Amino acid sequence: MIDAVIDQDDRFRGVLDRLSSKSIDDYYNPYRLFEWPESLPENMWWMSPELTTTHDSDVAATLSEQQLFALSRFESVNFYSLNVHGIRELLIEVVRRIHTSGFETPSEFFHHFIGEENEHMWFFAEFCLRYGDRIYRQPGGGVAIPSAASTKVESLLVFARILIFEELVDHYNSRMAKDERLHETIRAINRIHHQDESRHIAFGRELVELLFEDVRRTATDEELLDISNYLRRYLTYSFESLFNPQAYRDAGIEQPYELRQALLASPARAQAEQRVFRKTIRYLNKTGIVR
Ligand SMILES: [Fe+2]
Ligand SMILES: [Fe+2]
Repeated sequence: MIDAVIDQDDRFRGVLDRLSSKSIDDYYNPYRLFEWPESLPENMWWMSPELTTTHDSDVAATLSEQQLFALSRFESVNFYSLNVHGIRELLIEVVRRIHTSGFETPSEFFHHFIGEENEHMWFFAEFCLRYGDRIYRQPGGGVAIPSAASTKVESLLVFARILIFEELVDHYNSRMAKDERLHETIRAINRIHHQDESRHIAFGRELVELLFEDVRRTATDEELLDISNYLRRYLTYSFESLFNPQAYRDAGIEQPYELRQALLASPARAQAEQRVFRKTIRYLNKTGIVR
């Protein structure tokens, strides 16, 4: 039983206590914290150029600086839109489990998690609507959890997905928080999110490892291989969601779908994906969740 595994793990209980106290100490009012200028200047980077999907591509070489700034602007709105959708989905899953059998022990921490994510979703949506005038639609072609999965496997996949999503986002947040080329409002959003997410990621890594140990006790080798393959597909899907043809079109690119295909097929993409998920894949391999 998951609750027994979680309950008997002193280390995990210690981590939960420490992270819950830290959430209380770091608590802030997001509705007062940020400064929202009327508009943000268009003639600057909105996203670190090295983090944009078009960085170093053939297309980027043909664009003027103004066009590259515009591309970084729409890519940044896409990035925060992905955050909105990712948070909405993870909230549904965590709310579904809080105070239910098996999740008694982490429920206290789930309260902090749910509260913080609601606030993150608010400031990301606020940014998109104020400065981009839109929240981009969620990309299609999602990777649904197999309906045949047992409850235990389903929970493992749900929390592994949340962890992958949070680590992906954090790669970008932690870099943009420090990038002096970006406007202070953009840096602040990334900085605050990074601060909260370091707790969520620490929690996620502990929980996912425990859930996996529990699954591994009774699973067949084939089931374990299915888990590994599923999470590989999810890693790829998450990374590819950064390449949004609608954002390219809004930035004035004439053949946005062709551009997306070319970027996805390029060697630079494979390198970028590896960079972004370097720590995540190391963790997933070390724990044996992904082979
Ligand atoms: Fe968040
Ligand atoms: Fe989070």
